[in-house]
Amino acid sequence: MNPARHFALIPAAGVGSRMGASHPKQYLDLAGKPVLAHVIDTFHAAPSIAGVVVVVSPEDGYIDDLAVKAGQAWPRLSIVRKGGATRRESVLGGLRALADHANEEDWVLVHDAARPGLTVALIERLAHALAEDRVGGLLALPVVDTLKRSDDDGRAERTVPREQLWAAQTPQMFRHGLLTRALEQAPDVTDEAGAIERLGLKPKLVEGSPRNFKITLPHDLALAELHMKGLG
Ligand code: C5P
Repeated sequence: MNPARHFALIPAAGVGSRMGASHPKQYLDLAGKPVLAHVIDTFHAAPSIAGVVVVVSPEDGYIDDLAVKAGQAWPRLSIVRKGGATRRESVLGGLRALADHANEEDWVLVHDAARPGLTVALIERLAHALAEDRVGGLLALPVVDTLKRSDDDGRAERTVPREQLWAAQTPQMFRHGLLTRALEQAPDVTDEAGAIERLGLKPKLVEGSPRNFKITLPHDLALAELHMKGLG
């Protein structure tokens, strides 16, 4: 059998309401180009990635312009206009479109459009760590802060031990067939690993990087720019 290929799947159909901006956050400018363009560029620069699927909402008015501007730079990009009401639905839309090209055993790396700090080295670290893995896994960071659980009044009720706690990042990398079945059966999960866990499987945690954070609030863009200039 042919070795498994690796496909990137980028759900980019969110509206990013916490940014309070006029554009969805994946299209805001970061160091001269949209946040999403950084992510697509990085996957194109990664030797292990055979194809890049971006899932946008059917009404998206930005992606075509971006692809035209990129021209020859993104030969492996496919745009899928099947974004849904939740991230999970958008990912499922992308997986179903990818089923025309990928087989059951091919790997899919699902990555948030709003994490422009991803690097080729992180992609290769994940792909290498999971090469022989039966389940798959994700980039994540061990929690370093002391964690508090609050009561209804915003007062610390107790301290939660942080040993063995990780903050999930993306990419999250699973086989196409397994991930599709897992997400179809788990309507309420917030990430792919959560759906795999529901099947009783244990995704492998591979150490990510603080620079691979998700743009959520307005000052995150300035921080991402500092990281890109090597100052963060
Ligand atoms: O909103 P949040 O930051 O959790 O979104 C994570 C990723 O999922 C983003 O890339 C966003 O564009 C995507 N998403 C999506 N479809 C939705 C909601 C979020 O593709 N309905």
